[in-house]
Amino acid sequence: MTAHRTLTAEGISLAYGDRIIVDTLDLTVPAGKVTAIVGANACGKSTLLKAMARLLSPKAGQVLLDGKNIHRMPTKQVARDLGLLPQSPIAPEGIAVSDLVSRGRTPHHGPLARWTPADDAAVAEALEATDIVAIADRPVDELSGGQRQRVWIAMALAQQTDVLLLDEPTTFLDVSHQIDVLDLLTDLNHTRGTTIVMVLHDLNLAARYADHLVAMSAGRIFASGEPEHVLTAETVREVFGLDSRVIPDPLTGRPLVLPIGRHHVPAPLDGAAR
Ligand SMILES: Nc1ncnc2c1ncn2[C@@H]1O[C@H](COP(=O)(O)OP(=O)(O)O)[C@@H](O)[C@H]1O
Ligand SMILES: [Mg+2]
Repeated sequence: MTAHRTLTAEGISLAYGDRIIVDTLDLTVPAGKVTAIVGANACGKSTLLKAMARLLSPKAGQVLLDGKNIHRMPTKQVARDLGLLPQSPIAPEGIAVSDLVSRGRTPHHGPLARWTPADDAAVAEALEATDIVAIADRPVDELSGGQRQRVWIAMALAQQTDVLLLDEPTTFLDVSHQIDVLDLLTDLNHTRGTTIVMVLHDLNLAARYADHLVAMSAGRIFASGEPEHVLTAETVREVFGLDSRVIPDPLTGRPLVLPIGRHHVPAPLDGAAR
């Protein structure tokens, strides 16, 4: 079991130039749990994750890791405790899969950068867990979007941090690989106690896999807590501007959102013309 780290944002305001994206937001990431963040496009999810991972300095407020302001901690120290899979990571040209995954070990090396058997083991485990052993020697540039996404997840796993932040880890993945990745992250949470925070677009998978669900709207937290309490038709309407019906997932009892568009909806009960 890893130590549980506490990660909190206190009154953070985030901006690009003069444009404020997130205004005085508080967030406590439950230690040792799986948190999912959902919200409409451009509401500030990636911006928030970047600030939590020390890649973006708040204009006001602070992000605390174990009570210390992460923006005052050395990069390498933060990277040993906290890993980030960004939304659109860019691989160095021509790099092979295993070399990219190996870069996840960098924060663990001292100034002499000596590679150890523990590094080999961490990389091998990450390749195995993400099912990319067979493509370990291929150049990352030549992979499909889904294969590439699994390589990035492997790199984040190889870092073996106590906290893992993932920005849309399931994009580009087919449905079975989406489930594989979410199961894998849950395993990591159960066996190592890794605190997971992930941005997800699929509300139903978010409700199924998260212990703690955060719904963001226009740079604010609209609702947070247990998925059953957060994912309601009202939340879906307020956060996404979408009508829906929310029923219990017959497999898990968690909320299941059925979106209501303009087509393919049953006729009104009174049979009135629409
Ligand atoms: N590097 C950047 N420079 C300027 N504006 C940005 C930058 N990144 C994101 N934004 C803007 O910030 C807002 C929030 O973006 P983002 O956090 O990426 O949203 P989300 O991840 O929820 O889709 C958007 O309006 C986006 O255009
Ligand atoms: Mg984003």
